[in-house]
Amino acid sequence: MGRNIVNSSFCITGDGIGKEVIPQAVKVIEASGAAVALTDFDWGADRYLIDGTTVPPDGFATLARNFDAIFLGALGDPRVPSNIHAKEILLGMRFQMDLYANVRPVKLLDASLCPLKDATSDDVNFTVIRENTEGVYAGIGGNFKLGTADEVATQEDINTRKGVERVIRYAFEYARANGRKKVLMADKSNVMTYAGGLWQRVFQEVAPAFPEIVPQHMYVDALCLQMVREPRSLDVIVTNNMFGDIITDLAAALQGGLGMAASGNIHPGRTSMFEPVHGSAPPIAGKNLANPMGAILSSAMMLAHLGLNAEAQKIEASVLAAVREKKTTGDVGGALGTQECAGWIGEWLAKRL
Ligand code: NAD
Ligand code: IPM
Ligand code: MN
Repeated sequence: MGRNIVNSSFCITGDGIGKEVIPQAVKVIEASGAAVALTDFDWGADRYLIDGTTVPPDGFATLARNFDAIFLGALGDPRVPSNIHAKEILLGMRFQMDLYANVRPVKLLDASLCPLKDATSDDVNFTVIRENTEGVYAGIGGNFKLGTADEVATQEDINTRKGVERVIRYAFEYARANGRKKVLMADKSNVMTYAGGLWQRVFQEVAPAFPEIVPQHMYVDALCLQMVREPRSLDVIVTNNMFGDIITDLAAALQGGLGMAASGNIHPGRTSMFEPVHGSAPPIAGKNLANPMGAILSSAMMLAHLGLNAEAQKIEASVLAAVREKKTTGDVGGALGTQECAGWIGEWLAKRL
């Protein structure tokens, strides 16, 4: 494996619109000339329905050994109501590969995309760092007297000292590396006093190591208000798994919708995974309607992570050009299909190499 010479990426289109946006994003990566070899894998609902496989034996270890990065579409298919394959592949990857920092940049590319009155692209430009390996996602809990009138259901919120500290530290490191000035920790420590208390103490312990960064705190409900009322005040936000999930859909709306939002699931120094924030969107799947920009911007995050900064910047510039020229899909007001939008981006990019 030619690590550091030619990067290799494990590419899973997954389900629904993932099968449309990922191949288009791959064409854009190719147009950028990035030194990355992409290998397609068939993990997803189709494979699961054929042979019952979600993750092949030794799957994650193989990924970590043989690939520099993972590029993932989306998982979720109405033919698999239990969603077991999505749980095992997506959450399995985040947990077992220990991809503890879910980095979700929130960047408004053009004022026309924002539902907020008079908001400009300067007003919406922050990043959410979401804890990605514990919290209520740990799947700890159970049922008692299941299916009876006395049923009890528990779902535990797991917060470890190690897990909280490393993601808070990651947020400060991210702020430092990206010229950000503030890190805001969001929790619900007024109610969830045990878990919130740990987050509060660790945040206060870690912050002094980054004297140039202003530490801030908000309760997550107040943060939701702030995201809509004054997004300009936000810089880097760090929060737990569940709150991070919820606020990044709200944040996606500020950028123009889920079709625009990109993310990276990162463990520094290890094989990390990049995916659009959106899901498989079954109602619009297979219709050439899906916005490919979230996937394309996620591919740029992957290239930047692999050290291919010039190519990543060219891809971002091409998406920005498409937005400004209104070469977009219907969800953000354009008239193009998935393929035509991505095709325009690839051509614009190729002309400027
Ligand atoms: P979703 O993101 O698939 O769709 C939410 C809404 O956004 C829908 O109206 C959809 O049409 C729209 N949308 C999403 N992406 C779009 C795009 N690229 N272009 C245009 N419109 C887009 O979320 P959902 O409906 O809650 O979930 C559908 C399935 O996807 C479920 O099975 C869910 O579990 C799964 N899911 C997977 C991931 C993932 O794999 N990372 C993320 C979220 C949801
Ligand atoms: C996301 C998704 C996933 C999550 C689902 C599909 C399990 O909503 O990546 O934001 O909740 O993390
Ligand atoms: Mn989500």
